[in-house]
Amino acid sequence: MNPSATRIMAATRKELSDAAPVWFMRQAGRSLSQYRLLRQRMTLLEMVRDPAVCCEVTCMPVDLLGVDAAVLFADIMLPLEGMGVPFQMEDGVGPVVTDPLRTQLQIDRLRVVSPEEATPYLFEAIGLARRALGQRAALIGFGPSPFTLACYLVEGKGSRDFPHVRALMYGQPRLWHQLMGTLTEVLARYLVAQIEAGAQLVQVFDSWAGILDAQAYRDSVAPHLRRLFARLEPSAPAIYFSTGSTHLLGAIAEVGAAGISVDWRLSLAEAWSQIGPDFFLQGNLDPALVLGPWEVLERGAMAVLEGAAGRPGHIFNLGHGVLPESDPGQLRRLVEFVHEFDPKLVQPLRDRGQG
Ligand code: CP3
Repeated sequence: MNPSATRIMAATRKELSDAAPVWFMRQAGRSLSQYRLLRQRMTLLEMVRDPAVCCEVTCMPVDLLGVDAAVLFADIMLPLEGMGVPFQMEDGVGPVVTDPLRTQLQIDRLRVVSPEEATPYLFEAIGLARRALGQRAALIGFGPSPFTLACYLVEGKGSRDFPHVRALMYGQPRLWHQLMGTLTEVLARYLVAQIEAGAQLVQVFDSWAGILDAQAYRDSVAPHLRRLFARLEPSAPAIYFSTGSTHLLGAIAEVGAAGISVDWRLSLAEAWSQIGPDFFLQGNLDPALVLGPWEVLERGAMAVLEGAAGRPGHIFNLGHGVLPESDPGQLRRLVEFVHEFDPKLVQPLRDRGQG
């Protein structure tokens, strides 16, 4: 058996291992009773700001679920620390920005901070987690994309389709690009600092990209992503995550990320046939399947593995985060199922001209 950390790094180089590596977005969170216990006495941000607790929660799913990677326990809002934009994390709501950014003056005032000064506790937690994990699992760092962070900054909170964000983007393109430029610089420094502290790969969450049409994405978002990934790729492989964005896949393939996370709306085989074999892909089981009976989950997992068709460069994951009501026992069984499946067995599929 390959050690887990090797297995996932091999996938980023598009090498085939004994099994597909597997981890789950939101694996460290409310579905785990050990996490809920800690959470009773600390807020989310208190946990993130305490390196020992942050390290403990980050590593928890490796022991409990057997996944091949741990993902830093933090939130996409952390890079705002020190930028001069107050925010809160509200239970059941998510991030809330007290004074949403809508004017030139507010955007001029944003500070580009040094991440080591703004969030020193995060880099300490990364160092601790990396030592604690050793070869048991790889450590994944993460941050928001400039666009998804801008969504919270301009709208003020989560929204179905972020009308104020789109209004600023279409109506004041110069101001929009200024905001995106500042955020891109902050995020590049933030992610590079995570890599320097010990993260072996990084994932950029563009959770809301799917609200845009392809032209708006190409004009208003993609140029900034290209600059961001150009800063990351020399140091570590990067995964670009979005959801509900099947219509953007062609544009996404041009932003410079080596890895692309695909949701359940598109099969991996279809995604590869659209963008070509140079990318490694992550995904793409529907998280709702984890709630169903094992037989249904197993069938879904098999379909994902068959969608990958034994191609090198598949990281098994859900198409979006673990739902809070998921049973960790099901997740553990899913990890075992993926690990027992030999990707070489489906090689004939590839040779039959599907790849
Ligand atoms: O999920 C959990 O139980 C962990 C704890 C938690 C996090 N953030 C950590 C986190 C909780 C309760 C939040 C609040 C939060 N943050 C919400 C409320 C809705 C919710 O899920 O409870 C929202 C919308 C956010 C903003 C946010 N954070 C987004 C949009 C993303 C990107 C992923 C996505 O779901 O689209 C995050 C990332 C995030 N928050 C991670 C963690 C540990 C990323 C790493 C990972 O996938 O585990």
